[in-house]
Amino acid sequence: MSLDASEIVRSLGDCPVTWELIVHDEIASTSDVAREAGLGGAPHGTAIFAEHQTAGRGRRHNRWLMERGAGLMFSLVLRPAAPMALWPRLTTLAALAVCKGIEAELPLRPLIKWPNDIYLSDRKAAGLLAESFTGPHGPFLVLGIGVNVNTRAFPEAIRDSATSLLLEVRPAPPALDRCALAAALLRALGIEIERLDEHFPDAMSEVRARSWLIGKAIRAKVDGREIFGRAADLNHEGHLLIALPDGTLRALSSADEVRWVV
Ligand code: BTN
Repeated sequence: MSLDASEIVRSLGDCPVTWELIVHDEIASTSDVAREAGLGGAPHGTAIFAEHQTAGRGRRHNRWLMERGAGLMFSLVLRPAAPMALWPRLTTLAALAVCKGIEAELPLRPLIKWPNDIYLSDRKAAGLLAESFTGPHGPFLVLGIGVNVNTRAFPEAIRDSATSLLLEVRPAPPALDRCALAAALLRALGIEIERLDEHFPDAMSEVRARSWLIGKAIRAKVDGREIFGRAADLNHEGHLLIALPDGTLRALSSADEVRWVV
């Protein structure tokens, strides 16, 4: 079934954010369209979906490839009321929301691979890309989200590291309802992104409980350098604390790459 904006809105029910949905059949990137919309003054809650992207973008200038109609690809224009200094927390909250949205709809327990990948069975099922901009109508964020929903087979390059919700649900259904899932994700996002300020510590407790990384030996790339250690914890801001071989702790607010060293 195709994505249908009115069907998604109908399934949404009550939500703290009034999402304004636009569904495109094919565009270069929902995040590029959301950025243009934001620069043009699109309000908080504008949600751009696409059935297919011709130039989907991932983190670190990677391409984000997804076969037409198989997943959910959307980008949100967000203008949080909270001080801008708190906006970096949104990536963490959005990752939590994606987990909760999936879990509300399906018998799955998604985990967060810091900072913004969603994992099932040690494989990536979804990714987030947050970008901030300033335009004539003020600062705003574009939060791009890609979820592998009904994908049955992945290209060889990512076959061992990617999964889809369909491949993880037991017993395996013929296909998952993307409209219902989109509504569940938007509902969860509407709730979680409100926890930017005094509720963030509680959200962080939930994020820690869903961390895929904590406890694992890892290799992280930061500013072109490699760091080896153990993912010890996430701090109060959602930064990764790595226990280094010399016994010290190092906090990372971001990394170019984080890999589990088995
Ligand atoms: C990552 O894991 O590297 C982030 C992936 C983000 C992909 C989504 S798909 C919808 C939106 N549009 C894009 O071009 N990218 C994001």
